[in-house]
Amino acid sequence: MSNLFNEVRINKLVLKNRFIMSAAIGLREAEMFATLAKENVGLIISGGLETNEIANFEKIVRAVHANHGKIALQLVTSIGGRFGFDADPIAISVLHKDNPFFNPLVSYCSHHEATEKEIETIIDSYAESASIAKRIGADAVEIHSAHQSFLSQFLSPITNTRTDRWGGCIENRTRIHQEILSAIRVKVGDSFPILIKVGVEDALPDGLKFIDGLEIASRLAVGYDALEISMGLQDFSKLYATGDWSGTSMQRKNNCYRNWTREIKNQVSVPVIMTGGIRSFESIEEMMNNHEADLFGLCRPLIREPNLISRWKKNDRCPAKCVSCNQCITEIYMKGNSLECFLERKIKPQAG
Ligand SMILES: Cc1cc2nc3c(=O)[nH]c(=O)nc-3n(C[C@H](O)[C@H](O)[C@H](O)COP(=O)(O)O)c2cc1C
Repeated sequence: MSNLFNEVRINKLVLKNRFIMSAAIGLREAEMFATLAKENVGLIISGGLETNEIANFEKIVRAVHANHGKIALQLVTSIGGRFGFDADPIAISVLHKDNPFFNPLVSYCSHHEATEKEIETIIDSYAESASIAKRIGADAVEIHSAHQSFLSQFLSPITNTRTDRWGGCIENRTRIHQEILSAIRVKVGDSFPILIKVGVEDALPDGLKFIDGLEIASRLAVGYDALEISMGLQDFSKLYATGDWSGTSMQRKNNCYRNWTREIKNQVSVPVIMTGGIRSFESIEEMMNNHEADLFGLCRPLIREPNLISRWKKNDRCPAKCVSCNQCITEIYMKGNSLECFLERKIKPQAG
């Protein structure tokens, strides 16, 4: 049996193997979580959850445990952020209309820079979320600081132009991540695993560069229990205009963040999760044997084939069937449909 199926630890949490279901917003059915657990996914990470949503996950946590799985809840802020449709959303910095990240479709017309008090409230909201997650039995939490999330925007020089203690040098731009970690620790103790998904480079000119992303990851590795490596901001303007994700470059290449992950893994001593375009068992094995990552996150492949890990475990080592068409994302974000593989749906016989 491959070493990929050996136990691995994050803090005190023992996982049965090195495979992770990476966060998928829209994955909300207990049945689907139960299936992933039954089908040997070592750790399932929920989609980003706001504080008021977490208690609803108790049933899902129980379903995962009943099937001998482990679950981390991914935490996002319900207060700040670019996706807020409030009249005057909280932003990290006020963006000028020429800013590449400025997007009137997501109500950035009148936003304001987060005040000290608002930042404090946001930090407290993460601590509150983590404390509810622990109370309902979740095995871990993951802080979302990748892609276009609020915390990712603190890291990027495009969205963070602050000149106070929350902006400027890397120490300042990661201050909120450190304060969130400390506030959560007070609530959940030392042995409860706190992971972070971090965007280490923006796909935008003048955005976060990997050299800084590497330093950010190294700082976060002192305190956080595991790092999941991903990208930071990208230009979504076309996507919002067309509503179609299939044309975006999002993670279409296999093992797309391999180089970043390998470099980070080299510099830190906590477990590192590689995610993004992972499709072939052989390449995962090679990356594990080369110590390029400790754990491997898959999202779209497990939406298409929830039994993929069991299949690989049973020695059917054909690559994942997912072709990274991104239709699952289009369906969920743009059409509000439930999460499923669009291609699988097309080949399934239709009821009636
Ligand atoms: C439908 C869908 C929803 C997603 N929701 C989240 C999310 O809530 N939080 C997050 O950090 N990443 C989210 N992602 C990104 C995935 O976790 C993962 O990083 C990305 O899809 C690359 O991995 P893959 O190539 O295995 O799909 C989502 C991806 C998809 C396809």
